Amino acid sequence: MLEISIKSDSLEVTNEIGKLIGEEAFVGEVITLSGDLGAGKTTLTKEIGKTIGVKEDINSPTFNILKCYFNKNGLNLYHIDAYRLEGVPKENKNIGLEEVIEGDGLAVIEWPIYINEFLNFEESLNITITINKDTNVRLFKLETYNDTKFNDLFIKLRNKFDK
Ligand SMILES: Nc1ncnc2c1ncn2[C@@H]1O[C@H](COP(=O)(O)OP(=O)(O)O)[C@@H](O)[C@H]1O
Ligand SMILES: [Mg+2]
Repeated sequence: MLEISIKSDSLEVTNEIGKLIGEEAFVGEVITLSGDLGAGKTTLTKEIGKTIGVKEDINSPTFNILKCYFNKNGLNLYHIDAYRLEGVPKENKNIGLEEVIEGDGLAVIEWPIYINEFLNFEESLNITITINKDTNVRLFKLETYNDTKFNDLFIKLRNKFDK
């Protein structure tokens, strides 16, 4: 198991995390992003997308659930926001999720808990963001059981953020 917690007190730090994730992104990768509304899930996704070469503006897919960014410069980005799927039965959730999760690009999933029937949390990079409401400092906790595929990313993260 690989694990690191990084404190972000500015957008710059969050973007540095996103940049490293983007630099190490691979085909079939799945990233889950958990945390309250406003935690910074979409903000992190924007930087990941920018780094892998997505030219379009990445915005919150809440009303779309799934947005596909076909990327001729690199990996396709599949950005899922499952927030509106809370309580929806599995048979009504199949909107192409199975095709894009562990598909031909990178899937980034906000509110993974609402589509956990489609996910294999043992394989993905799981990120939980918590905010300290008093200080506005965010804690990004990154965890994975997939030590092999995420090894290089965690080396880079430790080099940059571990004192
Ligand atoms: N350190 C930080 N990291 C990420 N976002 C931050 C940070 N500081 C302030 N913000 C702001 O918090 C908001 C996070 O919103 P967003 O990324 O849409 O959250 P979510 O997708 O988790 O609901 C953005 O307006 C962003 O500019
Ligand atoms: Mg969001």
